[in-house]
Amino acid sequence: MSQDKRAFLRDSFTTTMKQNPIYGITVVAAIIFGALINTWPSLVLRSIVDESLPNAGLDIWRLGFTYLGTTLLIGVVDLIREYGATVFGQRLLLNIRKLMLDRLSLLPMSYYNTVPAGDTISRFTGDIEAIDSLFTAGLVSAIADLLKIIGFLLAIYSISIPIGVVATGSLPILYLVTDYFRRNMFEKQLSVRRKVSDINTSIHETYSGMKIIKIFGMENFFAERFEPILETHRLAMNSNSVYVSWFPCVTQTIRSVFISAVLVIGASNNGLPMALGLSLGTLAALADLMIRLFTPIQAISGEIQTIQRALAGVQRVEDFFSQDIQVNGASEHVSGDLPEGVDVVVDDIWFSYGDSDVLTGTSLVLPAGTKAAIAGRTGSGKTTLMNLVAGLYRVNRGKVSVGGVDPFSLPAEERRRLMGIVPQTVHVFNSSVHDNVTLRDSSISREQVEMALETVGLLDVVNNLPEGADTFIGEGSQQLSFGQTQLLSLARAIVTDPPLLLLDELTSGLDALTEKKVLSAIRGVSEGRSILTISHRLSGIIDAETVHIMDRGKIVESGSPGELVKRDGWYSIYKNIEDRGWKMI
Ligand SMILES: Nc1ncnc2c1ncn2[C@@H]1O[C@H](COP(=O)(O)OP(=O)(O)O)[C@@H](O)[C@H]1O
Ligand SMILES: [Mg+2]
Repeated sequence: MSQDKRAFLRDSFTTTMKQNPIYGITVVAAIIFGALINTWPSLVLRSIVDESLPNAGLDIWRLGFTYLGTTLLIGVVDLIREYGATVFGQRLLLNIRKLMLDRLSLLPMSYYNTVPAGDTISRFTGDIEAIDSLFTAGLVSAIADLLKIIGFLLAIYSISIPIGVVATGSLPILYLVTDYFRRNMFEKQLSVRRKVSDINTSIHETYSGMKIIKIFGMENFFAERFEPILETHRLAMNSNSVYVSWFPCVTQTIRSVFISAVLVIGASNNGLPMALGLSLGTLAALADLMIRLFTPIQAISGEIQTIQRALAGVQRVEDFFSQDIQVNGASEHVSGDLPEGVDVVVDDIWFSYGDSDVLTGTSLVLPAGTKAAIAGRTGSGKTTLMNLVAGLYRVNRGKVSVGGVDPFSLPAEERRRLMGIVPQTVHVFNSSVHDNVTLRDSSISREQVEMALETVGLLDVVNNLPEGADTFIGEGSQQLSFGQTQLLSLARAIVTDPPLLLLDELTSGLDALTEKKVLSAIRGVSEGRSILTISHRLSGIIDAETVHIMDRGKIVESGSPGELVKRDGWYSIYKNIEDRGWKMI
């Protein structure tokens, strides 16, 4: 199981390695070479002090340039390693994101229903970036630093074993102190970030609810809510800065203590029994090596934390990949010419979104080319039934078939050819009117779009927009009224001329006149088509041959409007109320 989950990391790593072997190889070479050359400048320094200076400039130029050259080379090798790792990491990131996007499009509706959007977004952004840092700032640097430490220690031990012991002793102390500070700084930064996200959430909520806030005059109340959040943000920032300010001071002191110890122990005239009597050049080299040794020790503590955080990110992305996907059947289900109408059979289905059943044994049959309506009170399960006929969810029990095929197993493009769906909550994408109708399906021509808009009675409205069907609509630009978006959604459903139409509360946002127009438009395109309409009021029902009344997850009454009105049941009660001018809610 866990092997399967990690497959995404392995796959994207291999793909990236195949696409860019040069970067991978460069990084490995730079790590090894970097560890080898890091000790050179210190050793050159020893020669300068011990040999060149006392002998009146012997070889001083050559040694001076060697010192400079090796120092430069170290910088260049580090640069190449960082660059290679960053490019490699970014490509890896791209490959993982591609895999995630592919996966996202295969997830069933139930995923979107249960996982908050913010959660998925953070997996696509923060968690993935954590994986990038695993390679760039984490693993690659940690390995490079570890090899550097080994190189420095070997060099120090080869000069003097007692000093080697002192240097080794500095490792855990400096590491633990640095780690303590980093850990605390990270926690504080995390709480600062949480506070920032609280502020963002509050701003977002206030922004999206501004209309309600203004209508009810709640500006002060919402403004006051910010104060405690801002204050806790300030406190979190303060406690973070305590650690930030102490950190360099403490670590510098520890470094100085160790360097002094090395110099004192190494010198010949310290009055201690353990005086090593090392040469001036050796002492200079040791001090230089010690200073260089401290840098990777301190860096490694940060890198280990980066790796830990990155592993948490890997875990969250793994969880994403372990979500069950919707397995669609092969695409030969509905190939070739489609029939004019298809039949829908719903056979004793049970369904729940969570724990409690929403549909409890619902059955209905819609013969090909006929029209049926489902009416019933809000919350009775009408939309849920439509979601199941549309194949958005899998039924828990029972069977749904559309034209003989289980709609849940339909590949997405075939679903669109087979059924035109107008959901109860319509959505406008931030794009042109044209794209909103075609949903970027390039096989749909401009004429088809125009015809669909004409059919739903939106063509005049669209033609009056500044750039016609190319006008951008959505957030921050041209807006449509709710009723107009419903019509747009209908145009989107009928543009591919599907044999089955599923219309959920199509006319709920329309005035009586527009409603009439839309219904007659649908009548116009309904010839030979199967249509299932849903409405919480009877006036929204379109010439249905059969009306099914739904209550608490079941069809409680079915028949033609003529039959039902005589039956003195639900339908006639509803009709009576509506005829008196009351609209059911
Ligand atoms: N996405 C969902 N997740 C959980 N419960 C839901 C969801 N959609 C609807 N429900 C529940 O299912 C029941 C039926 O809802 P719905 O099918 O939308 O009714 P209708 O369309 O008849 O008004 C309601 O009690 C509602 O709370
Ligand atoms: Mg509904």
